[in-house]
Amino acid sequence: MHKSKKAVSRNIGVEIGAICSKYFLKSRHLHYGYWTSDLEVDIANLRIAQENYARFLVSHIPPGVKSILDVGCGFGRIAEMLFDAGYQVDCVSPSPYLSSQVRQLLGARSHVFECLYEELETDNRYDLILFSESFQYIKPQEALSKTLGLLKEGGYILICDIFKRDTPDKNLLPGGHRLKTFYDIISQYPFELVEDLDITEQTAPTLDIANDALNEVVRPSADLAQQFLNDRYPLMSRCLKFLYRKRISKIGEKYFSGAKTGENFKKFKSYRLLLYRQADVIADRPRVTSDGSLEV
Ligand SMILES: C[S@@+](CC[C@H](N)C(=O)[O-])C[C@H]1O[C@@H](n2cnc3c(N)ncnc32)[C@H](O)[C@@H]1O
Repeated sequence: MHKSKKAVSRNIGVEIGAICSKYFLKSRHLHYGYWTSDLEVDIANLRIAQENYARFLVSHIPPGVKSILDVGCGFGRIAEMLFDAGYQVDCVSPSPYLSSQVRQLLGARSHVFECLYEELETDNRYDLILFSESFQYIKPQEALSKTLGLLKEGGYILICDIFKRDTPDKNLLPGGHRLKTFYDIISQYPFELVEDLDITEQTAPTLDIANDALNEVVRPSADLAQQFLNDRYPLMSRCLKFLYRKRISKIGEKYFSGAKTGENFKKFKSYRLLLYRQADVIADRPRVTSDGSLEV
């Protein structure tokens, strides 16, 4: 399968999540949110946590920035907030469904590049390139090399995303690049660290909410559907169970093992806001250029 088709079909989960989030939660955010200590951890408050997160993100845009490229912009709600704060914003969105939503929301105010970031081609240059929970979907080297080529001189990269911690125990939660590998990789690029904040504590409660929804809504609904099939079509039900036994067991392990909790999130993940500024020369270090080659 062509690379972009493969990556887009891998994102189908994000699109389904987006449709559910818009319909059930009336939220146009596709991230964990930021739980302040005074906010009760309840699904009814998720939208508030998500708006908090977006405000937190906007408050970390450094002075002097005017133009922003929002990579993996989801529904475009963060881009909209950036507009309201006075920035000029373009968006990258590989999902046809989400791209159409962004165009509806932002109209002519923003150009939406409907493609994978890795495949983006434009002469535009930006003061800041933003990855809000989209960095995890792109190979770090590809994301960083591409970003170098799209930044104006002295521009910034702002990543707010989940990374994997190194733990002695088997990591029970999928997703995110290994944090240590990320630091190793970015140290080879001409970027200087401006800010590195750990917001795992403030994002973890969302996993408890997801775990609740899986166990209180999704699982009982799936059990009822299975019971219905067993009663009405016993032979077909047995055949399906046999044919898909491996997949069924994988889904059970992934979603219903009880591992998706805030506690495990804090143990296995590190959710970070990372702001770097493009630097021309970092002494004694090989420099990776925008086409990804090393300049010694
Ligand atoms: C978890 S959502 C985050 C959406 C939004 N940034 C937010 O914070 O609400 C991940 C986003 O990354 C996008 N995405 C996934 N892979 C991508 C890639 N290779 N290039 C650009 N965007 C990508 C998805 O389409 C989706 O919009």
